Amino acid sequence: MDRYAVLGQPVAHSKSPLIHARFAAQVGEKLLYEAYEIAPDELSGALKRLHGDGWQGFNLTLPHKTAVLALCESLSAGAESAGAVNTLVRLDDGWHGDNTDGAGFVRDVVINLGVPLRGKRVLVLGAGGAARGILAPILAEEPAELVISNRNPWKPEEIAASLKRLGNIVPRTNLSLKGDQYDVVINATSAGHRGELPRLPPQLFAPGALAYDLNYGPAAQPFLNWAQAQGASRISDGLGMLVEQAAEAFTLWRGLRPETAPVLAELRR
Ligand code: ATR
Repeated sequence: MDRYAVLGQPVAHSKSPLIHARFAAQVGEKLLYEAYEIAPDELSGALKRLHGDGWQGFNLTLPHKTAVLALCESLSAGAESAGAVNTLVRLDDGWHGDNTDGAGFVRDVVINLGVPLRGKRVLVLGAGGAARGILAPILAEEPAELVISNRNPWKPEEIAASLKRLGNIVPRTNLSLKGDQYDVVINATSAGHRGELPRLPPQLFAPGALAYDLNYGPAAQPFLNWAQAQGASRISDGLGMLVEQAAEAFTLWRGLRPETAPVLAELRR
């Protein structure tokens, strides 16, 4: 049986084994998908050993997404622009690194939520790995404007400069957004994990705006509560993105695209 796993630390809470088990059952494929706790200093050795043992692919989660870049034989354009890898596909001589987070985000927003990004004013809050991972796929949707804003001013500048060849990303700071309005506002900061909210000016939401948090569960609540109080028309956490990025990975591995709606509905229950 083909074997896959999510590698992280911690990883016990991961929903990926359940999601991939549902996908496999849906398309009638027999495969094994597990969660493996791997410490950062064990990753390189573990990938060599698991390759030797015949494993077919992995998902990477915290803290491995960036470190694994250097351990790949080849990288997709998406992994290069994200500066991170969340999916490994087996090659004869090692691992091909890809990144399905951004594509998963775009599918959740455009297809599941029915909100096109084309021609929209899009604001990404935060300039860490999570923010960087969604920028290139958003640009590919041809928004009217893509702004990346952060507390610390130099990080958005650095990201905008490094992705310049893909399109125009406008670097800003959170407090300088005063007076602006956006159609889609995405929280890609880690503030919610500490129950915090980035300091932001009021009235960021244009009429009909979507507020989206890349997190799900309690970490998404501070931003989504604020967005609702600020008059955002629609709010969404990132659970759909989690399922969609998994579907993208499953498709890379198996060449079959599973249906995400029933799995997302099960997780919501
Ligand atoms: P991740 O990989 O989840 O993106 P990260 O690389 O540590 O994590 O980045 C966290 C992001 O959340 C950063 O953009 C950070 O802003 P700074 O660069 O200014 O530190 C942002 N962030 C975290 N807590 C925040 C808070 N309380 N207010 C505003 N931004 C916050």
